[in-house]
Amino acid sequence: MAKPKVVVWMPMYDQIGHRWFEEAGAELVVVDTTDAQAVMAELPDAKAIWVRTPERITADMMDAAPELVVISTSGFGTDNVDIPAATERGILVVNNLGFGRKPVSEHTIMLILAVMNRLTWADRSTRDATGWEARTNAGFLELEGSTVGILGLGYIGSEIARKLTTGFRCRVLGYDPYVDRRIPFTVGAEMVEDLDEMLKKVSVLCLCAELTEETREIISIRELALLPKGSVVINTARGAILDIDALTEALESGHIFGAGIDTTFPEPLPSSHPLLKHENVIFSPHIAGLTTSTATAQTRFAVDQVMCIVGGGEPTFPLNRQAWEGKVSRKPK
Ligand SMILES: NC(=O)c1ccc[n+]([C@@H]2O[C@H](COP(=O)([O-])OP(=O)(O)OC[C@H]3O[C@@H](n4cnc5c(N)ncnc54)[C@H](O)[C@@H]3O)[C@@H](O)[C@H]2O)c1
Repeated sequence: MAKPKVVVWMPMYDQIGHRWFEEAGAELVVVDTTDAQAVMAELPDAKAIWVRTPERITADMMDAAPELVVISTSGFGTDNVDIPAATERGILVVNNLGFGRKPVSEHTIMLILAVMNRLTWADRSTRDATGWEARTNAGFLELEGSTVGILGLGYIGSEIARKLTTGFRCRVLGYDPYVDRRIPFTVGAEMVEDLDEMLKKVSVLCLCAELTEETREIISIRELALLPKGSVVINTARGAILDIDALTEALESGHIFGAGIDTTFPEPLPSSHPLLKHENVIFSPHIAGLTTSTATAQTRFAVDQVMCIVGGGEPTFPLNRQAWEGKVSRKPK
């Protein structure tokens, strides 16, 4: 029997995954270019595609893939796949849940502390020796005892809450209309029903929600203005949750003290974007979830899930199970 063809669009986070696909019996093609045409050329006989954010799988691409059974995202985020189009064509879409809990919560807390202590300024000004003159009354902040607001108390947001309440004695407020009601009790977070009320009370705001039509730019000019002057904003979720131009304005007016930004929209930001000039913004290139051990664990999981589905097994994290319910279902027999 022919080996099932699996297309990996952009190399996997841990490239040992390419070998794992082959060991699991796949004919593997790695497309190491962002050019969608190059991917489409590989799709006519593909059974599966694994796609790394931010590359997008569109309806047109699905039309070029009549044998496609499954589309796997690289991690949790699914905003780069046209899921309704996949459902219409009987193609299952799957993601990989929960892998951000440990690395993204650590990265978020690192960014909070780094912004509060102006770490990139401290590093640069020690190297060029300008910091010694400027270090007194430089406005460094403490995290212990702060009130922190978390938007989205899922795997990552709830772990941040647990670390902040137990490790830093913070008061944590959470806003998440869909939260599993058991979570706030176990991590010491107080849930609020009204986002505006939360924003007025916190000096650090962490964005940890998934990107949906509801959360797109949920934090913009009005919301940033509700935060007390001198607040810190951290986005390690998805860039489009935060209106980045509004953040730039709030930093320029001095209302916001600083920001920690792992995710932006678009990625990367154009090099002329004014936010890139701000010393009190600490950036990372969407790496919060990419620690070595998590990259390997997530890759192993993705390979196993894709090969299980291609072989006729049940998915662990399906996003559109209904794709397998209609007449056009491509569920392997
Ligand atoms: N920076 C990175 O490298 C990285 C890595 C992994 C995940 N992420 C991102 O982090 C975010 C959280 O991931 P997770 O694994 O915790 O996912 P999760 O599904 O466990 O948590 C997301 C939470 O957002 C909540 N939510 C949905 N709509 C909301 C709304 N309108 N207002 C407030 N909350 C809302 C959900 O109820 C859920 O509790 C996602 O955006 C994900 O894409 C980033």
